Amino acid sequence: MRIIRSIRGLQTWRRKQNSQNVKIGFVPTMGALHEGHLSLIRQARKHCHNVVVSIFVNPLQFGPAEDLSRYPRTVKSDQALCRKAGVDLLFWPSNAVFYPKDFQTSVTVNQLSQRWEGEARPTHFEGVATVVTKLLCLIRPNQAYFGQKDYQQLLVVKQLVQDLNIDTRIVCCPTIRESDGLALSSRNQYLSESQRTQASGLSAALRQGVQAINQGATNVRAIQNSMQKMLQEISGVKIEYLAVCDAETLEPLTSVKGRVVLLGAIQIGAIRLIDNLLVKRSL
Ligand code: PAJ
Repeated sequence: MRIIRSIRGLQTWRRKQNSQNVKIGFVPTMGALHEGHLSLIRQARKHCHNVVVSIFVNPLQFGPAEDLSRYPRTVKSDQALCRKAGVDLLFWPSNAVFYPKDFQTSVTVNQLSQRWEGEARPTHFEGVATVVTKLLCLIRPNQAYFGQKDYQQLLVVKQLVQDLNIDTRIVCCPTIRESDGLALSSRNQYLSESQRTQASGLSAALRQGVQAINQGATNVRAIQNSMQKMLQEISGVKIEYLAVCDAETLEPLTSVKGRVVLLGAIQIGAIRLIDNLLVKRSL
């Protein structure tokens, strides 16, 4: 596995790929790799000749009061995991390399960035859109792999790729979960044992919502109330939002129709967790 830390090095590598007819798969990450990230890498490994992973804790997507300095950094074990998973190239730039002092461009995806995570974290998606655009410009992959775990992020990325005519297919990979339903996340390691148990309530509430819809419920207020009730019974959990939305626009629905996604965000102590489920109609 090659490790590249400079922009020039990456551009030189990319130019060499041009001469061969290889399919490049790309998995952007912020490191602290877990089975969720590895599932994306495995998908890329299966479908592409060359697999590129980036590890970069992107300061632009953290708000001033967020956990940028505390964000887990485990680069040595990340490297070993990448090597084991058959990654060809690891791009691991420093902040100074990725955002030189005179860097002044940003990418904004207007509508999709506004609600839900965008309300709680007003500069977050601009940070995500900017870093992802830059990475896609540098690596120019045929396919880039993103987790459904961050559903709003996935839609923001799909939109920017469409709007900016970036020649990369965005592949959505399913959310990897613990056996009790908790979605894997680098932030789970902040949870104490009791918080860890409380955290699984989020996916349980979302599952209950999906089940209600699959059993024919269409009144969104009633569905939300029952999800809320379930979570309110767990002490220590603060609900930020639990929403039933159009799966393409993320607009909240009043009655269930079309493709639907259930989105949720909770706080447990200082830790914020998000999750979502797409409704696969069994009706
Ligand atoms: P990060 O949180 O490291 O996640 C990298 C990728 O792994 C994202 O596409 C995310 O959706 C996916 N992922 C995380 N947990 C997952 C799980 N349990 N199952 C499946 N996939 C999962 O998301 C980011 O980094 C950043 O915002 C990034 C896109 C790298 C831009 O900085």
